[in-house]
Amino acid sequence: EKGGYDHFMLKEIFEQPQTIFDSLRGRLDAEHQHITLSGVDKIKEKLIHANRVIIVACGTSWHAGLLAEYVIEELCRINVEVEYASEFRYRNPIITDKDVIIAVSQSGETADTLVAIENAKKQGATIFGLVNVVGSSIARMSDAGAYTHAGPEIGVASTKAFTAQLALLYLIALKVAYEKQTIDQTLFNKLLGDLAKVPQYVQDILEEQDAAIQEIARKYADANDFLYLGRGFNFPIALEGALKLKEVSYIHAEGYPAAEMKHGPIALVDENLPVVFVATKDSYHEKIVSNIQEIKARKGQVIAVVSQGDNVVAGLADDVMVVPQIHEIIAPILSVVPLQLLSYYIGINRGLDVDKPRNLAKSVTVE
Ligand code: F6R
Repeated sequence: EKGGYDHFMLKEIFEQPQTIFDSLRGRLDAEHQHITLSGVDKIKEKLIHANRVIIVACGTSWHAGLLAEYVIEELCRINVEVEYASEFRYRNPIITDKDVIIAVSQSGETADTLVAIENAKKQGATIFGLVNVVGSSIARMSDAGAYTHAGPEIGVASTKAFTAQLALLYLIALKVAYEKQTIDQTLFNKLLGDLAKVPQYVQDILEEQDAAIQEIARKYADANDFLYLGRGFNFPIALEGALKLKEVSYIHAEGYPAAEMKHGPIALVDENLPVVFVATKDSYHEKIVSNIQEIKARKGQVIAVVSQGDNVVAGLADDVMVVPQIHEIIAPILSVVPLQLLSYYIGINRGLDVDKPRNLAKSVTVE
């Protein structure tokens, strides 16, 4: 049932070209520049006139939500808040009937997320569920929604559910932007076209980078700490990279916005600290290059996710994981894939049960 793979986690990482494709299928029509999402249509007016979009989630799903904040604000010009469900439910948040809550959950059963939307619903908010498991509690509680079509995710560390969430969140943002007319046709077409290329590009990364990433994993498997840095659209990916490493390797890892390192974490940097930069070509590129130089000046070891053809970062970094170049808004869905593989192989090198890390449950149905 692992389909020839040693672990579910690896199988699920390699399924991503298909699961992303399945999540876009019948929804994204790049050729005719059209997005079909009946769940969005159902609450279209609410979304277009929303006072705020509040994204509620936990863990990896929260990271997907954080990226969605950047994307929805950029494309739709709607205020977005991203909330840890556990915090949101226990404070007394100000919610009105002009708020749309997007609950992001693979399992659809996460207790904190479920109660958070239950409370928000009582206060009049409209609930949109972005869920993988069909018929789950969060799906049933929602006023409208869209299923990610990632298929069953068995590995406790979430991989394919995350990229499916991103694919759907991009579609939602693009559709709302189009309806609200906050995006011009050229950018809309470009992003649709790039999104359609993602399954093939993920396939290319898996085929072309797997061997190199195994080597990198061997080199760094004994490290005690990792720092993950990224800016802008890549910041949520730095957080997700760090979480994945913690879960499956038990190595302490922290994700930070790259510019924040000066405000504390840079004190950790010495020749024993691997620093992973999510450094694909984007509008912040020069800034991240100078952040990399600052780490190198302090003898930190730099592992970078770079865009194909980027000799500047490749020249500075000790090790690179290469991804195809694509629009900066879409790039994070590619950047996360090498980080998933890196975590997996480091966990394997350390002889751990990557599919069932200690202390973790696949779905957290108690608080
Ligand atoms: C991380 C992981 C967890 C889940 C979190 C939310 O790899 O699996 O952090 O993302 O427990 O779960 P769902 O998405 O099922 O609500």
